Amino acid sequence: MDPTEPESMLPPRPTALAQLLLREIIGAGDLVVDATAGNGHDTVFLAECAGAGGRVLAFDVQAAAIAAARARVAAAGLAPRVDFFQESHAMMDRRAAPGAVAAVMFNLGYLPGEDHRVMTTSAATLAGLECAAGLLKTGGGLTVVCYPGHPGGAEEAAAVEQWFATLATRRWRVARYGAIGTRRPAPFLLLGSKPKEIPIERRGRP
Ligand SMILES: C[S@@+](CC[C@H](N)C(=O)[O-])C[C@H]1O[C@@H](n2cnc3c(N)ncnc32)[C@H](O)[C@@H]1O
Repeated sequence: MDPTEPESMLPPRPTALAQLLLREIIGAGDLVVDATAGNGHDTVFLAECAGAGGRVLAFDVQAAAIAAARARVAAAGLAPRVDFFQESHAMMDRRAAPGAVAAVMFNLGYLPGEDHRVMTTSAATLAGLECAAGLLKTGGGLTVVCYPGHPGGAEEAAAVEQWFATLATRRWRVARYGAIGTRRPAPFLLLGSKPKEIPIERRGRP
């Protein structure tokens, strides 16, 4: 979330709405994932929600991002709750067991103030999302903030939205939220909630 924006501003920014919705899903003691740690705003949020008994796995490919996020988490007194990994979210399934995670957050694009050429890519993002879908537990929440106005962002945003549409066919509850009537394509939030597994013998029955 951008800390310069008042939280009460309506309509909420996609980053703020992602936090608002996940706050209802994440409980004390949960394992949660920040797939794009960046400056650590979402990492701090997740660590607060998961509580002293919870755990955050925070991923970023950039050393500068890991350093910034680590500093923000430490300043908030939350360092014991967070494990940082300077590696791609495409490999997050090496760090947690299937069905063990309550929430996964992606905030796509580049790190403000750093090299804008280092940004999320469709291929790694889609691979990370597949990992996230497998790691989430029933009722778990997945959020992705997409930036179609950035160079290269439109293609990635379209690919991610298409991937979310496939989730709907897998019985997930999915939704899209974003501003309309803007001069440039506005950032938008995609969110999904993982459904209960239906026992095979009951599938297809009315
Ligand atoms: C918009 S920033 C994230 C902002 C962050 N959520 C915050 O609250 O400050 C996007 C981040 O994704 C990171 N990134 C790019 N490709 C990645 C990948 N394959 N795996 C993990 N992080 C990646 C970038 O280095 C950048 O720091």
